[in-house]
Amino acid sequence: MARITASVYTSHVPAIGAALDLGKSHEPYWEKVFGGYEFSKQWLRDNTPDVIFLVYNDHATAFSLELIPTFAIGCAAEFQPADEGWGPRPVPVVKGHPELAAHIAQSVIQDDFDLTIVNKMPVDHGLTVPLSLMCGQVDAWPCPVIPFAVNVVQYPVPSGRRCYNLGRAIRKAVESYDQPLKVQIWGTGGMSHQLQGPRAGLINREWDNAFLDRLIADPAGLSQMPHIDYVREAGSEGIELVMWLIARGAMSDNPGDAAGPGTPRVAHRFYHVPASNTAVGHLILENT
Ligand code: DHB
Ligand code: FE
Repeated sequence: MARITASVYTSHVPAIGAALDLGKSHEPYWEKVFGGYEFSKQWLRDNTPDVIFLVYNDHATAFSLELIPTFAIGCAAEFQPADEGWGPRPVPVVKGHPELAAHIAQSVIQDDFDLTIVNKMPVDHGLTVPLSLMCGQVDAWPCPVIPFAVNVVQYPVPSGRRCYNLGRAIRKAVESYDQPLKVQIWGTGGMSHQLQGPRAGLINREWDNAFLDRLIADPAGLSQMPHIDYVREAGSEGIELVMWLIARGAMSDNPGDAAGPGTPRVAHRFYHVPASNTAVGHLILENT
């Protein structure tokens, strides 16, 4: 049977991708960001899974106002890096895992979560920047990746509670796949940031760090937080953080098990401000 071995959480600021692609990662400003991922790159080399299930959001790249799926699972054999206006990033093509993706779609849809099946989808910085942060500049990504796009751009967005419960359904789906695959689930986006309007530039360190604490120790409680609290406290784009609850919901502990058996081990935690207009947060949790 397949199993989820670990979850990874990270911001996806596009300027991080540009800094890497343009050879600026050793500049003092960017060194402080990339320094937080040195441990993670080695950890991923030591703990390379068979598949990464990567929860992210599209930024009106593959989807537009014409079509807004709340949850979309990429079932294709490959996904091209998107052109977000300045040409596609010079990163490897993303190889998918159509068999596992189709199995998860079957299981999760039968568990009453409505997924959109996507067989062709360019992937934007929401997916490629987390891969770059965790893998560095490589000729090929270390394993197949199943892209799982969540609408956190156009209202209405899904609640944290729905995301957390969806994560639990994804874990059940993975554990019923008839191959001995090691699967990591990544939750990406966030942390606090607002890119528009009078509050543009908003960062809330205290709130972000409390979010990390609760994500580790009280995810079921955290999942009850209404979407308006994310917007008020973490800025209009801080709502991306609901995607972290999908990954957290797929871990082995059960809701209400505060620090009980099966509580994941915190392998790494990092928080840094600023990266462009955004607070960068990063966690690695291992199933025990
Ligand atoms: C920016 C864009 C994002 O999608 C994000 O999550 C953070 C920052 C930006 O344009 O700076
Ligand atoms: Fe974003």
